[in-house]
Amino acid sequence: MPVTVQKQEETGVPAHATASARCPHLGAQYNPFAGPHVDNPHAFFERLRKEEPVTFSPMLGMWLVSRHEDIVAVLKEPARFSNRDMLASGTHLTDEAKAIFSQGFDTRHVLLGMDPPEHTRLRRLMNRGFTAQRINGMAPLIQQRATELVDTFAGNGHADLVEQLAWPLPAHVILGVMGVPSEDVWKIARWSADLHQLLFEHVPPEQQVEMAQGVRELQRYCIRLIEERRANPREDLTSYLVAVEDDGEALTLDELVMAIGASLLSAGHESTTALMANTWKLALEHGLWEQLRDHRERVPKFLEEASRYDSVAHAMIRTAREDVMVGGVRIPAGARLMLLYAAGSRDESLCPHANRLDVTREKVPQHLTYGRGIHFCLGAPLARLQFQIATNVLLDRLPVLKLVPNQDHGTWQSLVLRQMKHLKVEWSTAQ
Ligand code: HEM
Repeated sequence: MPVTVQKQEETGVPAHATASARCPHLGAQYNPFAGPHVDNPHAFFERLRKEEPVTFSPMLGMWLVSRHEDIVAVLKEPARFSNRDMLASGTHLTDEAKAIFSQGFDTRHVLLGMDPPEHTRLRRLMNRGFTAQRINGMAPLIQQRATELVDTFAGNGHADLVEQLAWPLPAHVILGVMGVPSEDVWKIARWSADLHQLLFEHVPPEQQVEMAQGVRELQRYCIRLIEERRANPREDLTSYLVAVEDDGEALTLDELVMAIGASLLSAGHESTTALMANTWKLALEHGLWEQLRDHRERVPKFLEEASRYDSVAHAMIRTAREDVMVGGVRIPAGARLMLLYAAGSRDESLCPHANRLDVTREKVPQHLTYGRGIHFCLGAPLARLQFQIATNVLLDRLPVLKLVPNQDHGTWQSLVLRQMKHLKVEWSTAQ
């Protein structure tokens, strides 16, 4: 049911606010932070796709877009839909917190918050650090870390796969790739969490200053690391980014700090944790562990089908640069759109019985878990590689595995990521 939006100048109030006040609609029921949409949003997303594929959420102040076709149409047009508010969508900062935060984090230099032509240049430079050869060269490090981690609990008969593998593995891998000492893992994780929460959650005012200080610490840490690598280059990605040039043009200090702190150390971690844990949970819930164990060639395809079926990167944000129609609904210039990737990836137009996890599909359709278009995830090949290696280590060491029944996964969600805190599993240790 398309909602007609009047122009702002005709009413004196923002057009989207008028629309939401006039008719109660599904958008008003959506809450990404609490309640049933955190544990399982898919029944609600199905209603959205069918009944109100483009609808306004008064709570978020954004238009929800749920159909695959509409989402892809937006992603293909960066000239009409900007990323400029992508990193300014979460917490409304107090003046004090804003003053500290803005010293430590400059959205103008973060890839995800940029538009062409600035984005094109920075992405080209960063792509050069993520060649297939460089990613594949990370496999021995991932294999070693995954084996060490699984060895610590393989004899126990039980484990929490989030705490003991899905969280520490990508944390240590990204630190290793960047050349950051592994003993710094906890403080970097804390600062990254501060950044993610301020950007993509609604943090209460009394917690904001401390978190903004964490973001400032992350920036200072990155500056020290960059200076150190300028003086003493090594074989790590930080040294590479410090030195990389394209037609004589290098990354500026601001770009380097944001690339290392925000785009790699922060973005490269929790999303991979979420993906690994969610995909293992789906394999166990659907009785697929033994099948994967006996047919390892099915692991990559299973990952894609699981990512399509339940995308952990459940949404991303764009801002309309002009009055524009999306899915038959007029969106006013300046309005923000929340593109529901998890809804779009289950769209019935993509594949038959899209609501079913089906490992026998001949071809898994292209889902939206890593986005699409110019902002397509820089780290997707690294995330896939980590999943495949870690899953094979698990299948080797724990060939018969089951979920601990009736557990609380402690599922948590921000505007952009859905993640479990726990995935408890058990197995027999008898010979
Ligand atoms: C399973 C893990 C991951 C998921 C689900 C994921 C998801 C995404 C998504 C959906 C986007 C597009 C955002 C948009 O449309 O606005 C994105 C962009 C990005 N991702 Fe990932 N990501 C993952 C892992 C990683 C890793 C390991 C890294 C780095 C090592 C990384 C770095 C980035 C960066 C830098 C961008 C911004 C690209 C740009 O704006 O051009 N991601 N990611």
